Amino acid sequence: MYRRAGEENAMILLPRAVATCCLAVLLAGNVAAAPMPPPGELGGIMETPAQDVTVVEPHLLGNGADATTRYLAYPALDVLAALFGSGWREGTEAVEFRALDGYVARIGIERFDADTAFLAFARADGAPFTVDNLGQNETGVPLGPYYLIWDNITNPDLVRAGASGWPYQVAEIAPVRRADTLPLPPGLERAAGLTREKCLVCHQLNGIGGTKAEGNLARMVKAWDEEDFLTLVLTPAAQREGSTMPALTETLPEAERRAMARAIFSYLVAVPVTP
Ligand code: HEC
Repeated sequence: MYRRAGEENAMILLPRAVATCCLAVLLAGNVAAAPMPPPGELGGIMETPAQDVTVVEPHLLGNGADATTRYLAYPALDVLAALFGSGWREGTEAVEFRALDGYVARIGIERFDADTAFLAFARADGAPFTVDNLGQNETGVPLGPYYLIWDNITNPDLVRAGASGWPYQVAEIAPVRRADTLPLPPGLERAAGLTREKCLVCHQLNGIGGTKAEGNLARMVKAWDEEDFLTLVLTPAAQREGSTMPALTETLPEAERRAMARAIFSYLVAVPVTP
């Protein structure tokens, strides 16, 4: 649903240089998505060389080992300017990072001013560009073509926030307006935001969100008992053998995770189901 018919065809007809730098102007409508050019090609349109960026790798937290990892990366804001032109912020409220497996991370534009994000395309130490995603029981997960990382080395709050703003296998980027706003039952605005950030990266709600997992969360959860829901969301792997659904933000204290899960439950129960 995110890839509009016609965009891909347009891409094929456009000369490569035009396709990578002027897409925003050429495509009709506000929301122009850019397929990410391969790193070699991106390097050709970037004004500054790739940087060696050290982060606390959030997918590796929790097994006691050193999670410090070095990536080769370009500053995300510079990449956005290179892909969409210097006026890309106009009318943009968030940026969507769409992954090969249907994962969609939508990140508010203000976060790029508050913290520094980079698009990584390789490890700086020559190791394979993969990660063990402990929260999803997956090892050696390929990170390419691009991986959105954040300078969290001196920022414990960012480390605590976990991996939800760190989409990997990013193949397409789109500056968007918040046009597809979620329904907001009174008092549940914050819960809606949490649901978007923590769940709709993989799941859909009334057609909004990622396509990594099947089903409409608003419909599915109506039938659930709250305790069963909390147990699933806080410990998916213990509930469903081989589950690749990550436990809700394990980097946060238990009480905080539970409160978050309850808020998400209230939202999913309250939100109307539309086809
Ligand atoms: C990284 C992707 C991802 C995220 C994030 C995610 N899920 Fe899932 N979820 C899955 C997948 C994949 C499945 C399918 C079964 C499995 O692997 O466990 C699933 C299954 C489910 C199910 C069905 C379980 C069943 O057995 O009937 C529910 C309900 C659910 N998720 C709710 C949520 C909620 C609520 C959140 C946010 C707190 C969330 N998910 C976050 C990937 C994700």
